[in-house]
Amino acid sequence: MSALEAEVSRRVVVTGAAGKLGRAVVAHLRTVGVDVLAVDRDGGRDPRAVAGEFLQVDLTDYGQVLEAFTGGADEHAGGVGAVVHLAAVPAPGLLPNAVTFANNSAATYNVFAAARAAGIKRVVWASSETVLGLPFDTPPPYAPVDEEYPPRPESTYSLNKALEEEMARHFCRWDPELVMVGLRFSNVMDVEDYAGFPAFQADPRLRRWNLWGYIDARDGAQAVERALAHDRPGADVFIIANADTVMSRSSADLMADVYPDVEIRGELGEHETLLSIDKARRVLGYEPRHSWRDHVYPAG
Ligand SMILES: NC(=O)c1ccc[n+]([C@@H]2O[C@H](COP(=O)([O-])OP(=O)(O)OC[C@H]3O[C@@H](n4cnc5c(N)ncnc54)[C@H](O)[C@@H]3O)[C@@H](O)[C@H]2O)c1
Repeated sequence: MSALEAEVSRRVVVTGAAGKLGRAVVAHLRTVGVDVLAVDRDGGRDPRAVAGEFLQVDLTDYGQVLEAFTGGADEHAGGVGAVVHLAAVPAPGLLPNAVTFANNSAATYNVFAAARAAGIKRVVWASSETVLGLPFDTPPPYAPVDEEYPPRPESTYSLNKALEEEMARHFCRWDPELVMVGLRFSNVMDVEDYAGFPAFQADPRLRRWNLWGYIDARDGAQAVERALAHDRPGADVFIIANADTVMSRSSADLMADVYPDVEIRGELGEHETLLSIDKARRVLGYEPRHSWRDHVYPAG
């Protein structure tokens, strides 16, 4: 058994476990045999939300996070090998900016710091596609966008995600053994959401804000599993999207129509994602298995 397998075969804490992505991640990790302690500030009384072992934790309280990570909570003993941190106010504009910032920054600092204090060497966390410059009122520097240009946060939510990526780099500088993987998820979709996709088709400007990207929650969960297996010390970030766009028009056509002055790099497949997943494919071995096209006949 490798050092990694030994760590991940111990308990994995998943924060934000009652959320949209968290539910898919917890279900997937449990299916592949990972011992998951699901953590959220909500959902403790709803067995449909998070089946299995669950601990209600407010991540803005450092003491609660440390207790969860060190197996100190009654009935939840056991050494934690890795943390998957998904909890957050998940978008701009849901709550006043300062509330979003206070919650998300405190939660993430506490998770990173408590992992360090508990000697946990693997942290996977949810960054966001927003750091790429969403909603692209300023056009992207080129397309498909990738991880090769500095974050361009355009909202308080995104500013915090960018700061988290920077924070992870410093935690890794402090501990050369630490592996931290930031997953810049695209817009998370459950299968039920695909029924709404035909409504996107008439106006290409409706979904230009994230270059027509999306991530199936099941593929997001698969990416988390891949990220947990990453064993290169240091902090790294990966765009996690599906292989195609939400549109039935071709990707080249969409760009020519909506962003005619943006340079297209490389050959674009017909519906190829404009949020490049090449790095995730290459380094993590991530390969999306799902598409909305398997669920809804594309309009147009
Ligand atoms: N939904 C998207 O389209 C999207 C896109 C990119 C990135 N993300 C990121 O992915 C992650 C998961 O998003 P989601 O869509 O599942 O969101 P969600 O709102 O469905 O789930 C987030 C969960 O975090 C919990 N949470 C928030 N603050 C907490 C705190 N202080 N203590 C404990 N729990 C807390 C909430 O109770 C909720 O269950 C977030 O970090 C989000 O920023 C989401």
